[in-house]
Amino acid sequence: MVIKTATFVSSNTRIDKLPAPEMPEYAFIGRSNVGKSSLINALTGRRHLAKTSQTPGKTQVINHFLINDAWYLVDLPGYGFAKTSKSNRVAWEKFIRRYLLQRESLQCVFVLIDSRHDPQRIDLDFCYWLGENGIPFMLVFTKADKQTRTKSDANIDKFRKALLQWFEEVPQHFLTSAETRMGCEPLLDTIDDINRN
Ligand code: GTP
Ligand code: MG
Repeated sequence: MVIKTATFVSSNTRIDKLPAPEMPEYAFIGRSNVGKSSLINALTGRRHLAKTSQTPGKTQVINHFLINDAWYLVDLPGYGFAKTSKSNRVAWEKFIRRYLLQRESLQCVFVLIDSRHDPQRIDLDFCYWLGENGIPFMLVFTKADKQTRTKSDANIDKFRKALLQWFEEVPQHFLTSAETRMGCEPLLDTIDDINRN
């Protein structure tokens, strides 16, 4: 898919202020620092569209980006960010869950997972929660440039096997790098396919 235009639309902390749900939308979620904002920039080929940071917890709002005047990419705050207070964290989680459960234009959630690590409980639990609630999702393994392909593939395999304890089928996955743009075209093509159906 060719990205002709990618524009920032809004930052929100309230569900009732989100853009009207008139176009298909794709949300990126995952632990703080997993590379959500970086991947959005790599996908769109705009280096500074979504703000990235070495400090976890950079994205604290729901950011909407309009692509080709036809669909939205959504950058969500990361989960598992230890530095915020517990009450803050609970409030955020509630907000994100409400968004995921209620957003009628949401087509698919891309769950980002760091390809360098063994399966983490928090990511598995989040996938389980999506599955339980019938929210369509796919897996996106990030930072592939940071280790060998063999290592990434082994971690992907472990994650998929862990999910198979709960699900009969495991959703589609992508191995990506925001540095090299590995996996970006297949991911965009998948969005394109969903948009056409
Ligand atoms: P929060 O908004 O805090 O939840 O983080 P985020 O998931 O949006 O992560 P962000 O994109 O800000 O990236 C975090 C750090 O990881 C930054 O220092 C990025 O440069 C780095 N990073 C992200 N993706 C990649 C990647 O594919 N390869 C490499 N080498 N570094 C990456
Ligand atoms: Mg971010």
